[in-house]
Order: sequence, then structure tokens, then C-alpha cells
Amino acid sequence: MRTLVVDHPLVAHKLTVLRDKNTPSPVFRQLTEELVTLLAYEATREVKTQPVEIETPVTKTIGTAFTKPTPLVVPILRAGLGMLEGMTKLVPTAEVGFLGMARDEETLDIITYAERLPEDLTGRQIFVLDPMLATGGTLREAIKFLFKRGASDVTCICLLAAPEGLAKLEEELQDANVKVVLASIDEKLNERSYIVPGLGDAGDRLYGVA
Ligand code: URA
Repeated sequence: MRTLVVDHPLVAHKLTVLRDKNTPSPVFRQLTEELVTLLAYEATREVKTQPVEIETPVTKTIGTAFTKPTPLVVPILRAGLGMLEGMTKLVPTAEVGFLGMARDEETLDIITYAERLPEDLTGRQIFVLDPMLATGGTLREAIKFLFKRGASDVTCICLLAAPEGLAKLEEELQDANVKVVLASIDEKLNERSYIVPGLGDAGDRLYGVA
């Protein structure tokens, strides 16, 4: 597993406004999209391409096209949905699948309550969207789910991570072809598993309801 923190003043500025508790939902949603577009630019650096012959108004030339099958973007419901527009703006030809995951409050296990994904993910480059890598539990289960379907190339785009969750994920996915691209690795998790300083509950701040 590899981790990339995107170090750019535009990312730092947008993240600062996202963190501010006084930033209202509409602005939070807009900034999340913009931030994801910037992260996606770095996250897609290794997207698979092939040469393609085209004709300009002047001459024939060789350009670049995505190889088939096209990249698959997988937002994790609910908060990952707020990142989708920012990603598809940059990669409009990507296909989109969905994974709904939640913690069972009794067993504390992560359960998959919804999925809409191709049965066979062999050879697909997959971009998972989940804003907050806190304990790492949801992302670990999502990656396991994708691997079971044959995936072997997964890039996760997150806004923030806690060092604890990132370390756990790294430990479990050492040699796997998984990359995590983020805007910041924060200080720690608090006793309620919120990222500190963080930005609060990303789903609530995006959608305004619990
Ligand atoms: N999920 C969130 O939305 N926020 C956190 O700080 C941790 C998990």
C-alpha cells in the first residue's frame, strides 16, 4: 500500500474552509467537489492509457486514450456520494458503482447494506471515494469486497485520515496494489473515533441531516 498526501496551496486552502464549523452545507458540498477534483488529478496519474491515432485539422498524430475497461469509480455511501461529482468532472467516461457500508452498532462489524458493482472486477482500475479514513474499518471492508470480485488495482481518495486508521490499513494491505490519496493526515482519533482536528461528521456536513 502506498500513501500520497497532496501538498498544494489550493488543497490546503479549501481544506481549511471545510474544517471551519461555520461553513454552511452548500459551501461545504461545493468545496468537497473542488477538493476531490484536485486530489483526483494526482490519483489518476497512473491511469492506464494507450496510444491512439487521431487527425487534427492539420495532420494525423498519435494521442492518448484510456485503455478498456474504463476506470470504475466507487463512492461509499453516504458521505462518498458528496465526492462523486468532483471525480466524474475530471474523468467523465468512468463508470460508477456503489457500495453502502455501515457499522452494526451491536457487533461493531462493518456490514454491506447495498452494492451495485460489476460481478467481475478483474483488470479494472478502481477509484474508491470515502472522505474520512478514521479507524480504517470501512475502507478495509470495501477493499476486501472489491478484491473478492477480482480487483487488484485500487486507489482510495479521502479528504482526511487519522494516523491510527492509516497504520492499520497499511499493516493489513502491505503488499496489495492499493494507493491512498489524501489532503491531510491529521493528529489522531478521539474517544468517539472522530478525526482530530478533522472536520466533524462529513455526511452530516454534506447533507445536513443525521
Ligand atoms: N467519519 C466522519 O464523518 N468524521 C470523522 O471524524 C470520522 C469518521
